[in-house]
Amino acid sequence: MKVGIIMGSVRAKRICPEIAAYVKATIEDNGELFSEKVELQTVDLQQIALPLYEDDDELIPAHVKSVNDYADCKTRSWSRIVNALDIVIFVTPQYNWGYPAALKNAIDRIYHEWCGKAAMVISYGGHGGNKCNSQLQEVLQGLKMNVVGGVTMKIPVGTVPLPEGIIPQFSAHNEKILQLVASCIEATKNAA
Ligand SMILES: Cc1cc2nc3c(=O)[nH]c(=O)nc-3n(C[C@H](O)[C@H](O)[C@H](O)COP(=O)(O)O)c2cc1C
Repeated sequence: MKVGIIMGSVRAKRICPEIAAYVKATIEDNGELFSEKVELQTVDLQQIALPLYEDDDELIPAHVKSVNDYADCKTRSWSRIVNALDIVIFVTPQYNWGYPAALKNAIDRIYHEWCGKAAMVISYGGHGGNKCNSQLQEVLQGLKMNVVGGVTMKIPVGTVPLPEGIIPQFSAHNEKILQLVASCIEATKNAA
């Protein structure tokens, strides 16, 4: 199964790639726990650089019937990236109790591509990002995603990269992350 790890932060200096790399390594190192082989792909919204609705798309995404209906070529390639995924893991920081605007923009650019897919949310922040975690889960439910749950990670704020010795401490989250990935796999199989 193809699993996308979507990074929610697009800041020039950010810790999101470090958290996403930890999540990816945790899943890769425990592949034997899953009933299906997983193929992981990290998706960086900074590189995808979707515009903020400055194109001439008239249709609302929920009314789009085919990828070719998107006027903007970056939206077409974004649609294809998400369409190819079976499972989506969102890795996002909390900003002012919410999740980053760039992530909301990327979510809102498309619609059918999300529907029916299993999803989980890994948030991080000084207090773990639980506010943005629950907000994002609610939005994903609105997109008819099958949201299996979330993980909140407390991180030291204000240091990029993360201080030495912090990543090994994340192992406390391994079990929950692996459980949620297993739930995503089962949800995807049951939906097939
Ligand atoms: C605009 C902004 C708002 C933030 N608001 C919160 C917050 O509400 N709660 C929190 O725990 N941390 C907050 N933080 C701290 C971030 O979670 C922390 O800086 C984290 O490293 C950001 O992730 P990134 O480096 O991958 O962008 C905020 C950071 C920024 C830049």
